[in-house]
Amino acid sequence: MILVKSIHHLQQALENYRQKGQSIGFVPTMGALHPGHLSLIAQSRAQCHITVCSIFVNPTQFNNPHDFEKYPITIEKDIELLTSAGCNILFFPTVNEMYPQNETVIHYPLGYLETILEGKYRPGHFQGVCQIVDKLLNAVNPTTLFLGQKDYQQCMVIAEMMRIRNHKAALVIGNTVREADRLAMSSRNMRLSTTERQQALKIIEVLKLIKQQLLPGSVTSLCISAITTLEENGFKVDYVEIANANNLEIIKQWDGGTPIVALAAAFINEIRLIDNLILYP
Ligand code: PAF
Repeated sequence: MILVKSIHHLQQALENYRQKGQSIGFVPTMGALHPGHLSLIAQSRAQCHITVCSIFVNPTQFNNPHDFEKYPITIEKDIELLTSAGCNILFFPTVNEMYPQNETVIHYPLGYLETILEGKYRPGHFQGVCQIVDKLLNAVNPTTLFLGQKDYQQCMVIAEMMRIRNHKAALVIGNTVREADRLAMSSRNMRLSTTERQQALKIIEVLKLIKQQLLPGSVTSLCISAITTLEENGFKVDYVEIANANNLEIIKQWDGGTPIVALAAAFINEIRLIDNLILYP
C-alpha cells in the first residue's frame, strides 16, 4: 500500500492506473477503522481495479468541539488493517492540505435533508461532510464511491451533493456491519466502557421492536415507546423516527406499502450513537 499525504502525490499515483483505464474505488473514512470500513474496502476490491482509502478527521463536520477532541485516532493500527485488507493507496492529508487558508467556503443547498434528524440535532454537520467529501472526490476522482448504510442520512446527503456538484462516480452503499450481539460497528464504540457497551445494545433492540410491532396506520406510538425505553435505560435521546426510506420524509401514518426506515440517535453519557433499521420492505 502506498501512503500519500498531498493531493498532488495522490493524483500522480493514480495517473498510472487511469492511463491504463483501470477503475478506482474510494472509501472515505475518519480512521479508527473497524470491520464496517473493511467490508467497504472488500467491496471496492471486488468491484474496482484499485482501492483508495482516505483517513481524515474532518474538523468542519464536528458541531461539538469536545467530540472532535475525543475522536479516536489509531493510525498505526489503521495502516496495518488497510495493508492486510489489500487497499492500494491510503490518502492521509493534513488539515492545511484539505482546507487551504483564505479559500471560499461553498454552501450546499441541501434543503429539507439538512433540517431533519442529524441535520436538526447537529447544525452545520452536513455542510462539513459535503465540503470534505466534495474535496475528496475532486482529489481522487473515483469510478465508485463506497459508503456505509449505518450513516443512512449521510448517504442521502452525499448523493445530493454529488448531484449538485456533478460528480460522476457511482455510489455503492454497504450494509451496516454489526457485532455478534447486533451492536452497529462504529469508531465511537471504542469510547464506551463495559457497562455503556452493554447499555448501547438497547438502541438496536428498540429498533427491532418497532419492526416487530409495525402495522399500517399511526406509527407515532412505536417511536414514543422506543424513546421511553431508551430514557428508562439511561439514554438522552435526540430522536427515534420512522421515515420514508427514499427521501427521509418523516412518517406518522404508514400506508403499508411505502418503503420505510427507523432511525435513532441517543447519548450514553457524552457518547452519541446512531443506528437505523429498514422496516419495510
Ligand atoms: O462517515 C464518515 O466517516 C465521514 O463523515 C466521512 C464520510 C469520511 C466524511 O468525513
